Amino acid sequence: MRLTGAVVLVTGASSGIGAAVVRRLAHAGSQVVAAGRDPERLARLSADTGAATMLTDLARPGAGRDLAERVLARHARVDVLVNNAGVGWAGPFGGMSDAVADELLAVNLRAPIELTRAVLPGMCHRGGHLVFVGSIAGRLGVGGEAVYAASKAGLDTFAQSLRMELARRRVAVSVVVPGVVDTPFFLRRGQPYRRSRPRPLPPERVADALAAAIARDRAEVYVPGWLRLPVAVRAVLPAMYRHLAGRFG
Ligand SMILES: NC(=O)c1ccc[n+]([C@@H]2O[C@H](COP(=O)([O-])OP(=O)(O)OC[C@H]3O[C@@H](n4cnc5c(N)ncnc54)[C@H](OP(=O)(O)O)[C@@H]3O)[C@@H](O)[C@H]2O)c1
Repeated sequence: MRLTGAVVLVTGASSGIGAAVVRRLAHAGSQVVAAGRDPERLARLSADTGAATMLTDLARPGAGRDLAERVLARHARVDVLVNNAGVGWAGPFGGMSDAVADELLAVNLRAPIELTRAVLPGMCHRGGHLVFVGSIAGRLGVGGEAVYAASKAGLDTFAQSLRMELARRRVAVSVVVPGVVDTPFFLRRGQPYRRSRPRPLPPERVADALAAAIARDRAEVYVPGWLRLPVAVRAVLPAMYRHLAGRFG
């Protein structure tokens, strides 16, 4: 998909990876619609990039569908949907409230499904590209982040299944699998990132990989690329993977 002139809807655009994606795609000549909850951060991003903005709380049932309908009413089409908005939570599973678990599942999984369902008819007609920002947590599982990892695994499998289903419909599907990225994500989830390795990457690295995935129709991109190694070890040598994961976390 050509980025120049494409109408691109980016969720979670008010911060971190989403804001970097808006800057990267606006620079490439896309007509970006930046969606998020924080009006001030979105207004600053719009002033810097020329992106249009839309306010939405994707935890609300139906919010994904509403957002897609508002964008289609204003821009007539969505060529690329970047499902990036996400929320984390870290701690023992038993200490997690139902409300927080619901919020994670709503923002990380239900809203992308609603958005995708709403933009897909137009994309099947004209062609398009669906991008899902997953997580290495969804590929490997992480102790202390069970619901977050499950929401991302669900998103990942949704995307991979759609890719199969849409193979003949001119709609491409990409999953972006980041590792640790230097954004407010960790503070917001209530537990800062404390490990010395792997070192957090700048969100611009993810934005560059995501733009390349759209331009070159890549099914999946890991950021950084070496993250495919633990995923491969887990697939081929699961007992060894469990041993290593137990030792090094
Ligand atoms: N940072 C990492 O290490 C990392 C690693 C792997 C995957 N990821 C994934 O990357 C994506 C972006 O995360 P980030 O690191 O850029 O985190 P971030 O800086 O905290 O940004 C999260 C974005 O999601 C939006 N969001 C959260 N709850 C929302 C809601 N209820 N309704 C609408 N928007 C909502 C936020 O909007 P407001 O600011 O307007 O509230 C914000 O724009 C997420 O899906 C995350 O799971 C991050």
